[in-house]
Amino acid sequence: MRAFKNLLVTGGAGFIGSNFIRHVFRKTGFTGRIVNFDALTYAGNPHSLDDVATAFGERYVLLRGDIRDASAVREAMNRFDIDGVVHFAAESHVDRSIVGPDAFVQTNIVGTFNLLQAARERGGAMQLFHHVSTDEVFGSLGPEGWFSETTPYSPHSPYSASKAASDHLARAFHDTYGLPLTVTNCSNNYGPYQFPEKLVPLMIMNALEGKGLPVYGKGLNVRDWLHVEDHCDAIWQVATRAADGQTYCIGGHNEMRNIDVVTRICALVDELAAPLASGEPRSSLIKHVADRPGHDLRYAIDASKIAADLGWKPSFDADSGFKSTVRWYLDNVAWTDSVRSGEYQKWISENYETRK
Ligand code: NAD
Ligand code: DAU
Repeated sequence: MRAFKNLLVTGGAGFIGSNFIRHVFRKTGFTGRIVNFDALTYAGNPHSLDDVATAFGERYVLLRGDIRDASAVREAMNRFDIDGVVHFAAESHVDRSIVGPDAFVQTNIVGTFNLLQAARERGGAMQLFHHVSTDEVFGSLGPEGWFSETTPYSPHSPYSASKAASDHLARAFHDTYGLPLTVTNCSNNYGPYQFPEKLVPLMIMNALEGKGLPVYGKGLNVRDWLHVEDHCDAIWQVATRAADGQTYCIGGHNEMRNIDVVTRICALVDELAAPLASGEPRSSLIKHVADRPGHDLRYAIDASKIAADLGWKPSFDADSGFKSTVRWYLDNVAWTDSVRSGEYQKWISENYETRK
């Protein structure tokens, strides 16, 4: 069992990173310090951890820094005597990678390389580098079968290609330099604090406002939906208990077609929020729009290795997960308003002058 004293969490102001930091402080008995190293891009919202900053004082440090800056990364690791890294920071949105791939190469590949180098330089002081990756590196499945730890890589989007490159670099640092490493490849996450460019929060927020719900193509693409809290638990189990060099696939046993996800969200918003002024059900807002180029048909994960080795399995099913998520977006208007209005970006520029 690894017990970290000073954990560097990159991208901790994003969706999964902020849930992970909260999970570690509140649910695991962790007694050390977490340094959240985040550039605070459009996807990084410090308000997502306001409660943690208040409750955990000096044990939680938010350091605005860019993983593309090798010296900033090195300085942070040495200054805080970092003995473990959980690396979330990335450009994460497939659609953005299609219109602007450069940032994906710089952050996801060069940024990961900078972190690996700095971690390696810390020698025996570094207990573990945990690299957070995605099932998208495996490409697309047909109607049958699942991705597992032995599935060959076949990425299709600039996003997934950049994540695949970063996975290869991480494993190369383990195999070549002996950097202690674990890797997880996870399916689609949903839950609190997700930026509303991704399918689930976009549909919830548009449905609440009576706006159109854009479904790409016929909506028949399948994703394996995992509640973010289950993902965070899995990462913590791997980071603290898995053997050096191991990779785990993580999924929710919850394959759904996009159209079914959107229809379910519409029904939940109808159930939990005030009706539309028109009196129509929210499903009337669904609009089929042009498909995403290179849109992978189906992702699904065989998570039997992490179940067998570490006893992990998801605790949310689709009913409990989607319902509690819709309720969260209804109940957390301060957060959704700060994102929708861009107030969090104004707050960042007033509180953090540079991105370094
Ligand atoms: P996100 O976009 O919500 O958050 C990314 C965070 O990284 C933000 O806080 C952003 O400010 C920060 N960041 C971006 N560029 C940076 C840079 N150059 N330097 C420092 N920080 C930077 O992403 P997410 O959905 O929370 O995903 C987190 C990680 O999990 C990513 O590595 C992603 O590939 C992986 N992942 C995500 C999912 C998912 O469904 N969201 C599934 C599997 C794996
Ligand atoms: O599989 C893991 C990946 O899941 C992560 O690695 C990525 O970081 C994360 O963004 C997510 O990628 P997807 O492309 O699957 O997520 P997104 O929410 O963008 O889209 C989910 C599905 O819904 C996908 O098939 C595209 C479709 N979609 C998406 C949006 C935003 C729509 O039909 N309409 C939309 O408006």
